[in-house]
Amino acid sequence: MSIGLHEVQDPPERWPEIMPIKGTDHLELIVGNALQAAYFYMHVFGFEPLAYSGMRTGRKDAESYVVQQGKIRLVFTSALSPDSNLLHHHRIHGDGVKRIALWVDDAAEAHEGAIERGAVSCLLPAEYADDLGQVVLSAISTYGETEHLFVERDHYHGAFLPGYQPWKLSAFTSRPVGLQHIDHLVGNVELGQMDQWVKFYEEVMGFTQLITFDDADISTEYTALMSKVMSNGNGRIKFPINEPAPGLKKSQIEEYLEYNGGAGVQHIAVATNDIVSTVSTLRARGIEFLHVPKTYYDDLRSRVGDIDEELSALRELGILVDRDEEGYLLQIFTKPVQPRPTLFFEIIQRKGATSFGKGNFKALFEAIEREQALRGTL
Ligand code: FE2
Repeated sequence: MSIGLHEVQDPPERWPEIMPIKGTDHLELIVGNALQAAYFYMHVFGFEPLAYSGMRTGRKDAESYVVQQGKIRLVFTSALSPDSNLLHHHRIHGDGVKRIALWVDDAAEAHEGAIERGAVSCLLPAEYADDLGQVVLSAISTYGETEHLFVERDHYHGAFLPGYQPWKLSAFTSRPVGLQHIDHLVGNVELGQMDQWVKFYEEVMGFTQLITFDDADISTEYTALMSKVMSNGNGRIKFPINEPAPGLKKSQIEEYLEYNGGAGVQHIAVATNDIVSTVSTLRARGIEFLHVPKTYYDDLRSRVGDIDEELSALRELGILVDRDEEGYLLQIFTKPVQPRPTLFFEIIQRKGATSFGKGNFKALFEAIEREQALRGTL
């Protein structure tokens, strides 16, 4: 596998940021059964119940359950009525991320600027209020049927958003696994579309490109992909965008696009401060991770140098390690978390490194291909 990061050095001449973003506010997933999905993330991934909106709050079309761990908030939404538009969305895409919500100072300004720069609106700015204050929400379209919701919430003190009530389970004991925040969110887009979405994030959102990986970086004997990593000004938002590259067999990206009915969020990378503990707990609760061959660890020390963790623990759990100029990172990937081979999670611990585990791509993709072969989609 070739080495050679194509770092993009140009400082953004559009400084100050055209769209200041304070962080990821939440992710909303449309799923078949929001209540049961929320319990899966509570009991297995260690989230706590936070808020609810649905029939008991007077909502007629859908129910949503919100869970939280660290700074990560996930919203699970399901249709209530047989003629809901959500059912159409779910039939096409299955369970997956619909909204990537971004926390901004001014949701009307973010929307107006984005539209001027070429974005498509899917929610005009509007104020929503209850006894605990008010928020302004707006939204624009991004790849596939995914949306960016802009959330202005400085004047809101409720559990989540107006329209939600606190979700209280008096006897529930949360068992967090140490998840802290969203590190990055990866989108898969159709062949030939990557650069269009790179341009969207540059021109509409004011992001800059951190890194490019091409098929010389990310290819195995059979499949290949290309990836560009987009980041906002404060670096809190990182969106790698993948597209398939021609290979001998069907790539994991093509498999995703087929089963997701088009472009969408491929994985949610969540940060922990103790990956060995987090992954041990998740495994004990039944989460399955991609496995690399034990030989991956044979030359690990010579590839990454000294690390704080016990090699035997990493080998036992299948945790991958990679080093860049600034430090190292540890990472591992779950198998898909719904029936379709689409969305999965990455657990990542950064020890200085700011990159994405390029040195692991080959081992990782071969592991994915073994899973594809088992599914009969390679
Ligand atoms: Fe990742």
